[in-house]
Amino acid sequence: MVRRLAPLLLLLALEARADVDPDEVPEALRESYDVFRVRCSKCHPLSKPYNVKLPGDQWVKYVAKMKRRQGSGINDENGAKIVEFLRWKDGPRDAGSP
Ligand code: HEC
Repeated sequence: MVRRLAPLLLLLALEARADVDPDEVPEALRESYDVFRVRCSKCHPLSKPYNVKLPGDQWVKYVAKMKRRQGSGINDENGAKIVEFLRWKDGPRDAGSP
């Protein structure tokens, strides 16, 4: 019983660690953050993108891939905002500037 639970607990711990603290998101990126949360949680939990760490240009490709999915609601405009947030998420985060 305990043995079976262990991998699940580990997974939950990893997911929690990868989350972004909303208080840490810079004011300038609030809107991008909101767009990301709405669009990217439609088909799967946000833990999917949170658990992946990519350089900015890779996120551009990834968001384009998600955009092509049926009913994603992602277009060039909100896609650019989402990428903006994801770049910050995996960027160096110096002095709170985006
Ligand atoms: C229309 C549905 C849909 C939307 C909207 C969507 N995704 Fe996905 N996403 C999927 C599906 C289905 C998979 C699993 C299959 C795959 O990996 O190709 C997936 C997988 C992923 C993965 C891979 C996770 C892994 O474990 O490898 C990441 C990262 C991801 N999505 C990020 C995003 C981001 C960022 C957004 C917002 C821009 C987004 N998704 C929006 C359907 C969607």
